[in-house]
Amino acid sequence: MVCLGNICRSPMAEGILRSKIEAQQLSVEVDSAATSDYHIDDVPDPRAVQKCSDYGIDIRHLRGRQLQKVDFKTFDYIFVMDRSNLESAKQLTDDYADIAKLDLLLNLSSPGENKEVPDPYFGGKEGFELMYQLLDKACDRFITQLT
Ligand code: 4NP
Repeated sequence: MVCLGNICRSPMAEGILRSKIEAQQLSVEVDSAATSDYHIDDVPDPRAVQKCSDYGIDIRHLRGRQLQKVDFKTFDYIFVMDRSNLESAKQLTDDYADIAKLDLLLNLSSPGENKEVPDPYFGGKEGFELMYQLLDKACDRFITQLT
């Protein structure tokens, strides 16, 4: 799960997907990362922590890290939140097999529509509920695809 800062959207997506993976007792490694280096080692935004906590998911232990080229080898799927993330992630590799692992997360729930998860960082708390619902639905679709 990849976004710009790895403190709002992608750690929430990581927490949501991991909770679904655990509930289904699947064996899938889930991680998240930033395209930027703004928040390396930072804890998630308090609004993201609170929103996940409202739904029984604890993301307080997560720390910001930056997406690396090696992530394209480690992971089978790399989901990004918006088109800007997609362009940044593509810059890390020129291997077609790597680029094929990339997609906008919301193409899981709205196939082919190239919808973005809006960046909530500079907005209000309400944005985090909308974001949670978007992420939750997309993660449900991913679980359905896997099982
Ligand atoms: P995220 O949100 O990409 O969902 O983690 C942001 C967090 C921090 C910044 C931008 C977006 N920032 O500019 O520091």
